[in-house]
Amino acid sequence: MKRVKVSSPGKLMLMGDHAVVHDRQCLVTAVNQRLWVTIEETSQTGEILIDAPDVGLDQFVVSLKQGELTDLPKAAKFVVQAIRNFDQFHPVKTGLHLTTASDFNATFGFGSSSAVTVASIKALAELQQLALSEAQLFKLAYQTVLDIQGVGSGFDLAAAIWGGTLLFSTGGKEIRPLVVKNLPLVVGYTGVKADTATLVKQVGGFLSAAPELVTPIFDTIQESVIQAEQDLEETNWAHLGQLMNLHQGLLNALGVSSPELERLVFAARSAGAYGAKLSGAGGGDCMIALVDNKTRSVVEEAIQTAGGQVLPVELSAPGIKVEE
Ligand code: PMV
Repeated sequence: MKRVKVSSPGKLMLMGDHAVVHDRQCLVTAVNQRLWVTIEETSQTGEILIDAPDVGLDQFVVSLKQGELTDLPKAAKFVVQAIRNFDQFHPVKTGLHLTTASDFNATFGFGSSSAVTVASIKALAELQQLALSEAQLFKLAYQTVLDIQGVGSGFDLAAAIWGGTLLFSTGGKEIRPLVVKNLPLVVGYTGVKADTATLVKQVGGFLSAAPELVTPIFDTIQESVIQAEQDLEETNWAHLGQLMNLHQGLLNALGVSSPELERLVFAARSAGAYGAKLSGAGGGDCMIALVDNKTRSVVEEAIQTAGGQVLPVELSAPGIKVEE
């Protein structure tokens, strides 16, 4: 029976949060915290056996073809739906034993659902010796995310597949790798787990109710993404910091910041960061602060004193890899 092991990285949204769900662009980077999926064929045809200790699944059995996913933990839903979507195009003729392992805590908001989705599909393709292109992998993974979550731009899937730092447009219309040298960021975790789908729907509701107010906010976020891309190229950290602060103000205006995020953001700025903003959907999860060698340790300390946890991550990490 064949066995394949694949790893994919987590991600951090740099700029473009929320606006990218509404036909605009964002900047995303892959982080050096990875998630591993091992899939082994079994003789139990039609059955998926899941061991995912990080999300509390031990020898969990689910049908490959049918059954509601509502009772499953979130990570398992993505895995099972990914396998079912793959099976529609490339029938799976054996049983499957899937095991996951992860560097990162699923509560950090580094994108464990997207990482596990792309890794599962890639592992299945490898088992069938199928040359799935990156674009095909993205398409299947994006369909899976929409099936489960109903909303999302797909930026996290692109980071998990391509790695590095990317300019990304809604639904993967444009995915362009950027050359970014040593972006000096500090990442602070609020300790609060956010629910991305709920926040995305909330902002979507705000847009529908008041397009004349929300559309200009998205347009300004889009412009900040374009200017930030240039700042990354020119390593213009002072300007990029300003853009991050502006972006944070706009996310606050959209209603997705939180007292915990604001505390960490203001602590970082007071300690001398060029700029700071939340990263992702908001409501909790992580914030990022742009620093330099002189301010890094003071900013890290300030984030900790304000109740945050500094997460040691490296950016522009490699994308999906077949490990064994
Ligand atoms: O909460 P995260 O880290 O998964 O980021 C969500 C980013 C949004 O722009 C709000 C949603 C999306 O799919 O782009």
